[in-house]
Amino acid sequence: MYFITFEGCDGSGKTTQVSLLTNHLQSRGLKCVTTKEPGGTPLAQEIRSLLLKSEIKDPITEFALLSAARRDHITNLIQPSLVQGITVICDRFFDSSLVYQGLKKGLDLDFMFDIHKKVVGALEPSLTFLLDLAPEIIIERLQRSANREINHYDAQPVSFHKSIREGFLLLAEKFSSRIVVINADQPIENIAKEIFEKFSMLTKT
Ligand code: TMP
Repeated sequence: MYFITFEGCDGSGKTTQVSLLTNHLQSRGLKCVTTKEPGGTPLAQEIRSLLLKSEIKDPITEFALLSAARRDHITNLIQPSLVQGITVICDRFFDSSLVYQGLKKGLDLDFMFDIHKKVVGALEPSLTFLLDLAPEIIIERLQRSANREINHYDAQPVSFHKSIREGFLLLAEKFSSRIVVINADQPIENIAKEIFEKFSMLTKT
């Protein structure tokens, strides 16, 4: 079983690809569960509501809430699933904190790794798909998706999405053996095919 995460800016198509990969693996008989962060358990979902309600200016407070949600998520959903041999496919994980609270809001990365290790533990994704998209396309997509829940994280200028993208690409360079960058400006089926192929390479190693 594997712990797979999807990362990228809002509007990059993570949710669609999470669901396509899950269907693909289930149709091949692999047991898998889909989840997301912040969220995934009742307590983490409550913390998510707090985080999305209004912007928490202090990144330490925001990261502490995210870490508490992540601990609950790992303890009650991710770890028990992996122990039962179920693959976990998660929409966002610690990389999002490194980019949004760390690289974007200036929280010290060593401090974040330290807290993450102490509060959350050593669990790392087996593979991370970074859906990469130009900020101009992201803005266009966010404006088009009328039935999507728009929160303060979304209501940001192009420059914000640009620095989030750069942050993720930096992480992809640093953790190149784990993070696979996928060009998200392609038809959905092509993106999915690329993801299925990369996943099958993981299972062959
Ligand atoms: P979502 O729209 O992908 O569900 O996520 C909500 C927002 O939460 C998204 O804009 C990114 C933000 N976020 C962080 O700032 N740090 C984190 O660690 C995570 C998981 C999400």
